[in-house]
Amino acid sequence: MEDMTLNDPNAAREWWRDAVTYQVYVRSFADSDGDGVGDLPGITSRLPYLRDLGVDALWITPFFTSPQHDHGYDVADYCDVDPLFGSLADADTLLVRAHELGLRVIVDLVPNHTSSEHEWFRAALDAAPGSPERARYLFRDGRGTDGSEPPNNWQSVFGGPAWTRVPDGQWYLHLFDATQPDLDWRNTEVGDLFEDVLRFWLDRGVDGFRVDVAHGLVKEESLRDQVVTSDETPSSVPEESVAADGGSVSMVERHRRDEPMWDQPEVHDVYRRWHKVLAEYDGDRMTVAEAWTQTPESMARFVRDDEMSQAFNFSWLLAPWTADAFAEVITGTLAAIEDIDASPTWVLSNHDVVRHPTRYGGGATGLARARAATLTMLALPGSSYLYQGEELGLEQVDVAPQHRSDPSWLRTGEEGRDGCRVPIPWAGDAAPYDFGPGAAQPWLPQPDDWAPLTVAAQAEHPDSVLTFYRAALAARRKFATPAGDDVELLDLGADVLAFRRGGLTVVLNCAAAPTALPDGEILIASGPVAGELPGNTAVWLRTG
Ligand code: GLC
Repeated sequence: MEDMTLNDPNAAREWWRDAVTYQVYVRSFADSDGDGVGDLPGITSRLPYLRDLGVDALWITPFFTSPQHDHGYDVADYCDVDPLFGSLADADTLLVRAHELGLRVIVDLVPNHTSSEHEWFRAALDAAPGSPERARYLFRDGRGTDGSEPPNNWQSVFGGPAWTRVPDGQWYLHLFDATQPDLDWRNTEVGDLFEDVLRFWLDRGVDGFRVDVAHGLVKEESLRDQVVTSDETPSSVPEESVAADGGSVSMVERHRRDEPMWDQPEVHDVYRRWHKVLAEYDGDRMTVAEAWTQTPESMARFVRDDEMSQAFNFSWLLAPWTADAFAEVITGTLAAIEDIDASPTWVLSNHDVVRHPTRYGGGATGLARARAATLTMLALPGSSYLYQGEELGLEQVDVAPQHRSDPSWLRTGEEGRDGCRVPIPWAGDAAPYDFGPGAAQPWLPQPDDWAPLTVAAQAEHPDSVLTFYRAALAARRKFATPAGDDVELLDLGADVLAFRRGGLTVVLNCAAAPTALPDGEILIASGPVAGELPGNTAVWLRTG
């Protein structure tokens, strides 16, 4: 498919190359049945909102059969819908309705591990050491004379050892929670299972897959010790990442290191196979990798011509609030994919990290910076990913410890990711703000000061964050998307990121003080602009 596009100048560009995709965290988007947890019919009922917002696609986090220990990232059956979220018929209805509205749908594939309740893992536990059932996972004997030490020193991303011992004395690997046993991707049965899963959802009409932990599937065969030891502390990680990621930095860093469990060369064979499967289907089906790799170059390996379509560009999200850091990410990202037929992606928030207004300092300053960073991102070539609630300016919520349920919190006592997962406020003056029927608080309680942030409260307000996002997405279609792929960085001073893309010039003032505005008609700004460009503000100018 992509080759045809390359060779035929008249062939349409694949839809995903400059799409804006909206991430729906299924538990927290919209609840149709009043159980306090979002679901598929809830999403379907809100699709017109997404169309009106102006996005092209939605990515829905896992809604498959799951005991929910990691809120769906622990899948017990990849080809069915968990009753908590609805049924397969509800998934079909969602797909049909989304397509009617011109929205593409990306589902979340979790190939690194299954749930411990998957039939394969149950069979593995019932079978003997050395059996074919155990060979689908990474079971090993322990170290020490009686095998009571784990096979190596690997730490779980969620904290604590990455190995759990079973009653017959063997250990199994889980890079995440103990209820998420890692599959052995060197076993061909595993690849065959996932080809079937891909086909199951492609046949139902999904437009693409977000691939969870895409850099982790294959482990270095030796399973040698990792270099980072269990006594590492968050303060031992690079300073710029601490600044950027706030509370969840140590978790992010743990799956970003140069270690024997991440980014092994053989992982690319998996994606070459998937590329061929997707190419058999019509309509530019796509994949996007969640790969916390070290550099733009290692990220680019996931999007070579015969592999994945896209990879999340987490360097953008991890960049601290400085013009230099943003410029470096833009330059590095574009340079890394220059020689391959890939398009860049950009993202500022997702369900695993502290929401970006909070990362940028919170309050009025954090929100001004967040609006400015978003407007800058939306001007860049390639595609952008938005996370539900950022269009309402939601901040990270300080969830009371008794309500937290992120497994990383449960395993380590680190604050965890619940604070970016609080259900969306749609309307009304009090929780659940029309998130679902009834008056009860949803699965994570919503703050009592969210009434001014609801969709209904913001929809008609000219200065609201929602109105700004709608305007920015409309401006993107009109001015940025047609402006070509070339980006030229401009030097307008140390605290200013500025670039030209075709006839569009984008200026982001990272300082607190105003700066001079270059000539040009103002197309859109992230905040009030009069004469000069205020601090923490971005603007698009027509300059050509
Ligand atoms: C990815 C997901 C995260 C999940 C983890 C384990 O990083 O984004 O939410 O906990 O994988 O599946």
